[in-house]
Amino acid sequence: MNTDIQKVKSFIAKYHNQKKALISILQDIQAEFNYLPQEALKFTSDYLSIPLIDIVSVATFYRSFSLKPRGKHLVTVCLGTACHVRGGPKILEEFERHLNVQAGETTKDNQFTLETVACLGCCAIGPVVVIDGNYYAQTTRRKVSLILKDYTKKEKDNEGHKEN
Ligand code: FES
Repeated sequence: MNTDIQKVKSFIAKYHNQKKALISILQDIQAEFNYLPQEALKFTSDYLSIPLIDIVSVATFYRSFSLKPRGKHLVTVCLGTACHVRGGPKILEEFERHLNVQAGETTKDNQFTLETVACLGCCAIGPVVVIDGNYYAQTTRRKVSLILKDYTKKEKDNEGHKEN
């Protein structure tokens, strides 16, 4: 993939080329490309004179950043203790079956990345799944297919709007 370096440059300019805005700049890059491409990090490093190793340290510290390409939709299944005892692993299996990927992988069409998390801090409503920041409480196997259908339908609707 060719990274649009002009976009990266505009994100840096938005924060007046300030080193202290590194996290905000990385957030903008992540939002634009769905991950942090190597070329973008290298450019930011050179442009702001921040060692690449320091940028990578920040990028790997925060879960919201990814150094690997992610799908359009990020599916996070909680496997913390409370969600685990309420069936979290079965929910994960169901997502893996429907999406035909294992946790940590992205679907071939780049639509979904499946991840797990240790706790989302809302244990009372488990098992919890988060997709693109939307929380799904008391998820069941049956709900998994309904949730995914909803996202697939939204994609189709969006494509329909683009064609019209
Ligand atoms: S264990 Fe899942 S939200 Fe806490």
